[in-house]
Amino acid sequence: NRVTYFLALETSCDETAAAVFTDELQVLSSVVASQTDLHARFGGVVPEIASRAHLRSLLPVVDDALARAHIGLKDIGCVAVHNTPGLVGALLVGVSAAKALAFGLGVPLIAVNHVASHIFACRLAAGRDIFPCVGLVVSGGHTALFRCDTALSMELLGGTRDDAAGEAFDKVAAILGLGFPGGPAVEREAAAGNPKAHDFPRSFIHDGRLEFSFSGLKTAVMYACHGQDVKRATPPGPGQKRADLAASFQSAVVDVLAMKCKQALRKTGLARLAVGGGVSANKPLRAALEAMCKKEGADLFIPPLSLCTDNAAMAALAVEKWKQGAFAPDDLDAEPNWL
Ligand code: KG4
Ligand code: ZN
Repeated sequence: NRVTYFLALETSCDETAAAVFTDELQVLSSVVASQTDLHARFGGVVPEIASRAHLRSLLPVVDDALARAHIGLKDIGCVAVHNTPGLVGALLVGVSAAKALAFGLGVPLIAVNHVASHIFACRLAAGRDIFPCVGLVVSGGHTALFRCDTALSMELLGGTRDDAAGEAFDKVAAILGLGFPGGPAVEREAAAGNPKAHDFPRSFIHDGRLEFSFSGLKTAVMYACHGQDVKRATPPGPGQKRADLAASFQSAVVDVLAMKCKQALRKTGLARLAVGGGVSANKPLRAALEAMCKKEGADLFIPPLSLCTDNAAMAALAVEKWKQGAFAPDDLDAEPNWL
């Protein structure tokens, strides 16, 4: 019984990533090259720049992942790639490279859904089965709750009507002049602020629907920051006002996410919550979810930071598909939209 080595690629947004893992879910290496510096001066991810940077970085990142795993390309028995959802030009770089590698090596290719992988990151980190569970994916592109009966079956319980939670963090960071990426900057700023200074809206919080809306919250922060004259406004600069705005905003997002997870647990009758995506790196969110799960008698699974934000190790979900023989067709394409 020989072990099979998987090489996985991730290029859906602004991280170029490769990982090597085995069919027993042992992660041998996980390399992430961030493009943050390239996008920072534009205040957000620029799709064309992202695609070009993936082209430049992908093969060096693959070489690095193989070297760290102490294996060569010839040892790879399966290639996996996130082909959906994401920026189409960015996804195409990974998909094209994965197809070429699989074809060249004569090994199967497996297409993996990036959002399903974010939930699977919890399974990887836990080292044991976590299904069935409620899955929450909170990232720059997604905020959605799922019923996950197995690693590969996700039923959407509800998503966002407008902005994703991470997008709201990024936009509020821009309003407050905190730079890009916004999530970690807002979290740092919020640490010195009063979360009760502003009573920002918590959309649908007492409403049974498992849906989210963050664009009104972002607008409320903008008016609280600048008054009515938002067009000519400049960011507030350091001080208590800025910290209070950040803390009050963050507390609104955290309250909504924790409440909706609680409602999803009750609605499904499940007693496990798995959380993934970049926003799950947020410490106050982790603390709120821990407290909520404890009260509800549910088990909480949140991966360590390196598995929360975009990476290729979470594509170990490919192993589940591989066991079923669910290989990708030769004409596999990038699919920007999924939900
Ligand atoms: O999962 P991810 O790396 O990429 C996507 O698939 O979108 O998530 C990136 C998002 C960004 O919007 C970023 O601002 C947010 O996650 N983020 C955070 C934190 N770290 C990253 N949001 C809040 N608090 C954080 N500590
Ligand atoms: Zn992601």
